[in-house]
Amino acid sequence: MELSHSVSTGQAGYARRYGRDFWADLAESPHLRATFDRQMRHRLRDQIPRIVTGFDWSRFASIVDVGGGRGDLLAAVMAAHPGLRGHLVDLEPTAAEARHTFAAHGVAARTEVTAASFFDPLPAGAQAYLLVDILHDWDDEHAGRILGRCVEAVDPAGRVLVVEPVGGLRAASEFDLAMLVMFGGRERRVEEFRALAAPHGLILDRVIEPTDQRCLLEFSLEKVGTPDTGPAPVSSV
Ligand SMILES: C[S@@+](CC[C@H](N)C(=O)[O-])C[C@H]1O[C@@H](n2cnc3c(N)ncnc32)[C@H](O)[C@@H]1O
Repeated sequence: MELSHSVSTGQAGYARRYGRDFWADLAESPHLRATFDRQMRHRLRDQIPRIVTGFDWSRFASIVDVGGGRGDLLAAVMAAHPGLRGHLVDLEPTAAEARHTFAAHGVAARTEVTAASFFDPLPAGAQAYLLVDILHDWDDEHAGRILGRCVEAVDPAGRVLVVEPVGGLRAASEFDLAMLVMFGGRERRVEEFRALAAPHGLILDRVIEPTDQRCLLEFSLEKVGTPDTGPAPVSSV
C-alpha cells in the first residue's frame, strides 16, 4: 500500500505508515539506531578498499565527512594518507561511535567529530566535503539544502564529493524504490545531480566508478563567468 502511494505521489511511505519519518524513528529508538548503524557498516565494508584506492585523496589536506556514520570510510582514507586531517559530522549517538572508530584506526589525533545536523552550518574551510549515500536519502529540496551547506563551508578551491549509486550507471531498481518509499529520495542520474547542484554554483567535473555499486561525482565551485554547460566525463578506474 505504501509502495503504490509512493510511486503515485513521489512521496515517502514510511511516515504515512509509522506516523513519523525514518530519522525521527531512529532518534526515538536506540535499538533501531544501533541496528541501522551496524547495517550501514556491513553494507560498505567490502567497498571501502576500492573507494580508498580508486580516487586520489592525497590532493586534499582536509576533508569533512558529512553524515559520515560510524566513520569507517573516513578512517580508512585517513589511515592511507597520514597528512590528511578529517572531520566527521553526524547525529548522536552515531557521532560517538565514530570517535571509537577513529581511535581504533589510530587516526583520532587528526580527526574531529561534531554531533550536529547537516542542515545546520558545517565545519568551515576544508578542501573536500564528502557525502556518502546521503543525497539519495532525501528529496530534491532537502538534498539541495545539504549541498548548500557544503558550498557555504568549502574552501573556494575545494571540492564536494558525492559517493552513491547513480541511476543508469551503478544503481539497482530495488534500492531506487526503497529510497523512495523510506525517504522520498531516489537514485539520481548524472543529469539529475547536475541539475540539483547547479543552483548552488557547483560544476560536475567528473564521474568515476570506483566500485560495482557506487560512483564518485566530483564537483567544484563555479567561478564567476563560467556556467556549467558541458557534459561530465564518465570514467571507470
Ligand atoms: C545512509 S547513512 C550513510 C552513513 C555514512 N555516510 C556511510 O556511508 O556509511 C546516512 C547517515 O546520515 C545521517 N543523518 C541523517 N540525518 C542527518 C542529519 N540531519 N544530520 C547529520 N547526519 C544525518 C545518519 O545518522 C546516517 O549516519
